[in-house]
Amino acid sequence: MYNEIDLDRIDLNQGPPQEEPKRQYYYMAKCREWARDFERGNGRRPTFFIQTFGCQMNARDSEKIQGIMKTIGYEEGDSAKADFLLYNTCTVRENANLKVYGRLGQLKKQKKENPDMIIALCGCMMQEPDVVEKIKKSYRNVDIIFGTHNIFKLAELLALKLFSGAGSGKMIVDIWKGTDQIVEELPNERKYFFKSGVNIMFGCNNFCSYCIVPYVRGRERSREPEDIIAEIEGMVADGVVEVMLLGQNVNSYGKNLKHPVSFAQLLRQVEQIEGLERIRFMTSHPKDLSDDLIDVMRGSKKICKQMHLPLQSGSSRLLEVMNRHYTKEDYLLLVEKIRRAVPDISLTTDIIVGFPGETEEDFKETMDVVKKVKFDSAFTFIYSRRTGTPAAAMENQVPEDVVKERFDRLLALVQEVSAERTGRAVGTVQDVLVEERNGQDTSLVTGRTSQNYVVHFAGRPSQIGSIVPVRLDESRGFYYMGTQLAD
Ligand code: SAH
Ligand code: SF4
Ligand code: F3S
Repeated sequence: MYNEIDLDRIDLNQGPPQEEPKRQYYYMAKCREWARDFERGNGRRPTFFIQTFGCQMNARDSEKIQGIMKTIGYEEGDSAKADFLLYNTCTVRENANLKVYGRLGQLKKQKKENPDMIIALCGCMMQEPDVVEKIKKSYRNVDIIFGTHNIFKLAELLALKLFSGAGSGKMIVDIWKGTDQIVEELPNERKYFFKSGVNIMFGCNNFCSYCIVPYVRGRERSREPEDIIAEIEGMVADGVVEVMLLGQNVNSYGKNLKHPVSFAQLLRQVEQIEGLERIRFMTSHPKDLSDDLIDVMRGSKKICKQMHLPLQSGSSRLLEVMNRHYTKEDYLLLVEKIRRAVPDISLTTDIIVGFPGETEEDFKETMDVVKKVKFDSAFTFIYSRRTGTPAAAMENQVPEDVVKERFDRLLALVQEVSAERTGRAVGTVQDVLVEERNGQDTSLVTGRTSQNYVVHFAGRPSQIGSIVPVRLDESRGFYYMGTQLAD
């Protein structure tokens, strides 16, 4: 757990210590001196703005970055006037990259107006050497680039920039190819005071043949269970009631620890934490989902009735080429087992359309699984060719118009089956964690059930962060309207 370290007591006349995280505390203190000077000179604190692309991993990384920036003395501000602007990037599909280049182009004008602003880039896209080369050549206004492995070094890189001399236009680039290092005890912020993501592992070893994540996030590394428990206990003491345990494949958690611990065992420990009310996790790879995990879920009061179980394709033939290590039948059997153990569980999934060599028959198998499972919702993606992955080199890429036509059919089916499932909780009473005031009607608050269904009901903002019983009266597509029964 990170404790408010006393940055003011750090002797800046000495050189920085070598070991982490002390080295970063030193640089945070150094940057804080700069931030105080800035405040004296400008009558305000320096401001930062972070834009996060991609998945929950990036969202959590951004909270860590935010924690460091606030510790240094920056405050959150408007993107148009930020003194420090950072894009935490994603590269899972080509679209994600295009968005970032678009934004960087727009920033050229802003940087001209405010030459002192610092533009920083980090995240998965920066782990691709081609991307960094392109930025070095075409986007000279970028000041700092770092990757997914060295986020903890932000203060050090910022210090390098801030103290490199006025007007120095040197771009600071620090990308690591990989790492075994997990630096604990750094500051971090939470977007919500009552819920938080918690990394239980980093990286991925699965090398699904279409996916770039293992290349940009490195090999799988699990955190020690004690560190995870201590972090959650600290959060609970600070008001958190719900955690989302995060990993690319949580079901393989703990395999590489000195004393291996399974994900099911970790869940049993997390469950014991007093004051913690809800546990979610993502993502579950079907190939590693154990009976033990299903058992823990069956017996648990805290683990939410929700699971994200990416299918990717319903064709056993394609699943093999995708390197997923399960068949259509394995997947269907798994769903059956999970539903038997937790009957009202909400199941969501990811599906890719147009993987190289996908035939109409393969696609029909995918449609068949969607019909059989009736997912609560499904994220559907058009296959995107990612440089360096085995699938990118496959010659039988599916023509764009065929992919588009299949994608539309799949989307229509997904909407049809999820519409069938919406409304099934009408009339039931559910525990709802109140998350925010309703944006449109301020007499309403909005929260989520264990299944992650969104519910609006008449309530007070003071209820935010607490769990209350709500009767679900009516289903309106993606959400329910309800009535609170008692406090
Ligand atoms: N680790 C998670 C998902 C990470 S990426 C898992 O294994 O499920 C999130 C989703 O993006 C994937 O589930 C997949 O459906 C999609 N995806 C990954 N690579 C893709 C690609 N090259 N083209 C299209 N979709 C892709
Ligand atoms: Fe990508 Fe597969 Fe790893 Fe998920 S499990 S991140 S899809 S390689
Ligand atoms: Fe994107 Fe990286 Fe997540 S590529 S999906 S942000 S792990």
